[in-house]
Amino acid sequence: MSFDDLEDVLRIENLSFPQPWTRGLFEQEMCNPISYALVEKADFEGRQRLGAYTVFWIVAGEGHILNIAVDPELRGMGLARRLLAFILDFMSEKGVSEVYLEVRRSNEAARGLYHSSGFEEAFVREGYYGDEDAIVMRLVLNDREF
Ligand SMILES: CC(C)(COP(=O)(O)OP(=O)(O)OC[C@H]1O[C@@H](n2cnc3c(N)ncnc32)[C@H](O)[C@@H]1OP(=O)(O)O)[C@@H](O)C(=O)NCCC(=O)NCCS
Repeated sequence: MSFDDLEDVLRIENLSFPQPWTRGLFEQEMCNPISYALVEKADFEGRQRLGAYTVFWIVAGEGHILNIAVDPELRGMGLARRLLAFILDFMSEKGVSEVYLEVRRSNEAARGLYHSSGFEEAFVREGYYGDEDAIVMRLVLNDREF
């Protein structure tokens, strides 16, 4: 993710989340040494578009996926699955053994994505989002079948 990507990233972010990240938060993560901010580009109607992005941390052998979103016009085409597979391969190469993330209880698309990629529900953080619980999901990378 570069500063030039932020306009597209913020458009997708605002369409994707009830409590979207601000530009400042993305900029902060882009300068954070434990943070990785990546974009995925896709060919759509003859031109390259920024289709998806992610922000994740690698710290002390643990991976934490903080953010992942796909342009609403490009959902259901496998972009998130491909991006998540890339993240997990990348983390594995960096020696990560466990990956964690939080997801809203009502977010069936994301829970389906994570379940089908091998994540399991570890525990619940009640009221984490103010209006809703967070499900904390965990994947042990060594158990994963590539
Ligand atoms: C969740 C999200 C990233 C999925 O992106 P996507 O590119 O449409 O997902 P994919 O096409 O790669 O689908 C991968 C899997 O996710 C699940 N999935 C995707 N959309 C789904 C939906 N609407 N309902 C249920 N499961 C869904 C399925 O398991 C799917 O696998 P399948 O196609 O073999 O059934 C996308 O809906 C999004 O950006 N949502 C808003 C942001 C968000 O909630 N991010 C996650 C925060 S924790």
